[in-house]
Amino acid sequence: MDTLPNTPVASQAATEAARRRSFAIIAHPDAGKTTLTEKLLLKGGAIQLAGQVRAKGNRRATRSDWMSIEQDRGISVATSVMTFERDGLIFNLLDTPGHEDFSEDTYRTLTAVDAAVMVLDAAKGIEAQTLKLFEVCRLRDIPIITFINKMDREGRDPLDLLDEIEKTLALDVSPAAWPIGQGRDLLGVYDLLNPAVRMLDTEEGSHIPVTGLEDPALDKMIPAGRLAELREQADLVQGGYPAFDEEAFLQGTMTPVFFGSALRDFGVGHLLDGLGRLAPPPRARQSDARMVVPGEGKLTGFVFKVQANMDPQHRDRVAFLRICSGRLEKGARLLQVRTGKQVPVNAPLFFFAKDRQVAEEAWPGDVVGIANHGILRIGDTLTEGEPINFRGVPSFAPEHLRRVRLDDPMLAKKLNKALEQLADEGVVQIFKPLDGSPPVIGVVGLLQVDVLQSRLKVEYGVPAGFEQTQWEYLRWVSTTDQASLEKFRQFNRHELAEDHDGELVALFTSDWRRKRAEDEWKTLSFHALREQH
Ligand code: G4P
Repeated sequence: MDTLPNTPVASQAATEAARRRSFAIIAHPDAGKTTLTEKLLLKGGAIQLAGQVRAKGNRRATRSDWMSIEQDRGISVATSVMTFERDGLIFNLLDTPGHEDFSEDTYRTLTAVDAAVMVLDAAKGIEAQTLKLFEVCRLRDIPIITFINKMDREGRDPLDLLDEIEKTLALDVSPAAWPIGQGRDLLGVYDLLNPAVRMLDTEEGSHIPVTGLEDPALDKMIPAGRLAELREQADLVQGGYPAFDEEAFLQGTMTPVFFGSALRDFGVGHLLDGLGRLAPPPRARQSDARMVVPGEGKLTGFVFKVQANMDPQHRDRVAFLRICSGRLEKGARLLQVRTGKQVPVNAPLFFFAKDRQVAEEAWPGDVVGIANHGILRIGDTLTEGEPINFRGVPSFAPEHLRRVRLDDPMLAKKLNKALEQLADEGVVQIFKPLDGSPPVIGVVGLLQVDVLQSRLKVEYGVPAGFEQTQWEYLRWVSTTDQASLEKFRQFNRHELAEDHDGELVALFTSDWRRKRAEDEWKTLSFHALREQH
């Protein structure tokens, strides 16, 4: 790689990147993600919008409630990225949808963060959705900080929880704190990394440094019996679990564990301090041509999310750009590498939780919203001219495939355009059968079909239905063996389609047929996951 020039912008980008922490919260529904988000934002002085965060997080809403929440996209746009500042650090918290039918959106968001906070319910430990989301983090080596929540309620033995994390996730655990009691008996936590106690029912800021577990100051704060218990447990924990190892954490093989209660606003400040100290600033990212480091003078970034704006009449959409290097200035013109077109960025939006604000400039680790009329799509790389692409924004093979049914053939063209736009947004995946039959849409969760149907009708005036198809499985097909591919195309014309980017996909009516194709066509590869570019 050529040495990149060390310009003033480059060194400023390095400095600004160093004080950014961009992260997401992963959790099984009900573990307390929304409550924790509110408390984190309040600490960062970012909000008075508890109600808004809650509206989005309330996934126990009925389906129709949920639909109306989704339609009120102002809320979801405003809470997609929450930026707050504390102790000179800038935190970008990227929101992920709570409902598991929208997990694709979550997976894409995880490509844009540098760390994740995994929230567990102290009574439940690792749950199904925690596991799924964790697997995505592992795929991308995202460092994970664990927060064991609801310690104010009767829960499982903390040692038991640590063992479960270790075994289920095959992850080393290193407790950063140890709870002093639990449930009704919770008194506080002892900070194992920087000896101190943080007591419940005192101000969260009450952080009382001590010299260690033998410090006599502890006798005044903790009743003798409880203190003896703490000493015993802390000994056990420190002897039984590895010390925090930064390298292992950054590689995603070790997680520091914090304890607290989001509801009681306890342990949240400790977690935030931990995030500031332990979570990495933006790191170098691989593009198809070279590694890109944050402290470069030229801007690079990629779009990981596109969302329809508040005003559906204007088809205005906001593309969320994660900045990887350099500086983004208001009014910049950037190269959209996929098309070779110049995209003006007249009013990049910072998403402070309360309001959208026009940013003057943004730095690596930041996420900015770029209003555009359907030009930018998920997976797009933007640069100041260099033709590189960041890879890794994933598409997953859909779990459900549906054939679009249109009662009014006059609307076919309009339907296609609408589907294209909604696919750009990642609302659904769209596949065009090679035999010219009507498009097939693919979703990971069925609620996506409801959203699609409603948006087609309300925003585009196209009433459409969705029918079951005979297909159960879809795989992307790739190979270097063009002759075989040609044959495969000829034999399977009625079971092939192209995705939104013109990539070939094969459709199967059963898993057996999928396996048989894999056996029969040895030189072709069938993928359940595709990285967009
Ligand atoms: P989610 O976004 O992960 O789905 O979880 P959310 O924050 O909505 O929390 C789910 C429920 O758990 C809520 O109770 C919330 O008040 C409660 N909760 C969150 N953190 C804690 C905690 O640290 N301790 C205790 N005891 N409870 C906690 P709910 O009654 O279901 O909803 P609500 O009526 O309070 O909104």
